[in-house]
Amino acid sequence: MQIKVYCDHHLQSKAAADQIAELLLWNSSALLCFATGDTPKLTYELLVERLMNEKIDISKCFFIGLDEWVAVSKDDTGSCHWFLHHYLFEPLNIPASQIHLFDANAEDLQAECRKMNDLIRYKNGIDLMLVGVGMNGHIGFNEPGTKEDGLAHVIDLDATTLSVSKKYFNGEMQASKGITLGLGQFLSAREVIMMASGSKKAPIMKMALEGETGTQVPASLVRNHRNASVVLDKEAAEGLQLISQNLFQ
Ligand code: F6R
Repeated sequence: MQIKVYCDHHLQSKAAADQIAELLLWNSSALLCFATGDTPKLTYELLVERLMNEKIDISKCFFIGLDEWVAVSKDDTGSCHWFLHHYLFEPLNIPASQIHLFDANAEDLQAECRKMNDLIRYKNGIDLMLVGVGMNGHIGFNEPGTKEDGLAHVIDLDATTLSVSKKYFNGEMQASKGITLGLGQFLSAREVIMMASGSKKAPIMKMALEGETGTQVPASLVRNHRNASVVLDKEAAEGLQLISQNLFQ
């Protein structure tokens, strides 16, 4: 694992966007899995800009969603579905044939999980996964205590996630469950970018990077990943012992 700390959110986002673009330059048929949320928004905007400016070929790439709020409509601006279409798929004109997201309104959510697991297996694993970190240390919707080798599953969202979720939704949020890829899929992705920004993430990043490794803080498992970059702005890295060695401009 490599920890990279940037002076501000723009530089942090540019670094993450460049890392994705560079993978796409040599692997034009990558299987990519992207988180939603506030943290990676600017990364996606900068990625779109670079891919368009440099005409990087992504016509053979395939995109999967990391997670979704169960029973929330795809058209709700708080849904992961809406977010990924708005920030990535529409600006990049990615056709539906190159996208597979969880249908969190499906009657059979277990079948949705199986479909996602089968697809990942069929495509020979995830090439790059970009994740954010929840205030409780979750990755995707893998809440504290989720098993380390899990695949896609449906999960009860914990109180912290439910309370934080209000920031994404205009009205009342109805979901009490999430559908998510599992930590096993996070750990076996060939490359991982974990991002956190802002001082509100500093306490959980300190626990994740310098506390005990274990599923009580799912983000701490990044330390067991063989090819992970933790990309932080300096506020999120506040208090890390490692910060002085890793401050990039
Ligand atoms: C969303 C997701 C979540 C978020 C996390 C951080 O797809 O997977 O795990 O990455 O809750 O959210 P933000 O970036 O809004 O702080």
